[in-house]
Amino acid sequence: MKFFVDTADIDMIRDLSEKGMVDGVTTNPSIIAKSGRDFIEVLTEICSIVAGPVSAEVTATRADAMISEGRKLAAVASNITVKVPLTWDGLKACRALTGDGHMVNVTLCFSANQALLAAKAGATFVSPFVGRIDDMGYDGMELIAEIRQIYDNYPALETEILVASVRTADHVKQAALIGADVVTVPPKTLQGLAGHPLTDAGLAAFLADWEKSGQSIG
Ligand code: E4P
Repeated sequence: MKFFVDTADIDMIRDLSEKGMVDGVTTNPSIIAKSGRDFIEVLTEICSIVAGPVSAEVTATRADAMISEGRKLAAVASNITVKVPLTWDGLKACRALTGDGHMVNVTLCFSANQALLAAKAGATFVSPFVGRIDDMGYDGMELIAEIRQIYDNYPALETEILVASVRTADHVKQAALIGADVVTVPPKTLQGLAGHPLTDAGLAAFLADWEKSGQSIG
């Protein structure tokens, strides 16, 4: 499973990339606004650090305007993935932009039928938002399992399932168990995956015993 980071925080992206944990990056208009930086400038910087797909979302709502914005965003770097919302206009823009040869991430997916439409429109990625479904009192991971089954039923559908709105370590584990292609994770959640109290306790005990032995490797 590929790991994307869901952020425009350059320091975090660089740090996690150096650890080999970043296969791509996702942004959305809220993430860019939070960064306080110029959209094109921050995208250019992210694409200079990460070789994999970097999602940049259009803000137009009509297909023709989405296509024009998408082409501008795609011109920033060859690894830009244009993100469009899962609306009929977004699906039309998806078809046109993939026809141009650009990668497209169809976002704001909340149902299996929406995911089926994204695949029919030739999306490179579909982004189901598990955390926002959980917030409504339903199980977001059930949707991932449904989409996995549907896509597996039709091998001609090549869209990758990009699990988004990830909030917990358990979301990451469940996505991997179901066989999602990609999970996009906020940096703090990704950093938390390495932690375990038994790892900390075990390391402390090993180091204490080593100190008692009086030996040194160096
Ligand atoms: C990623 O592509 C999404 O925009 C993001 O994961 C949304 O996460 P949120 O629901 O926590 O805002």
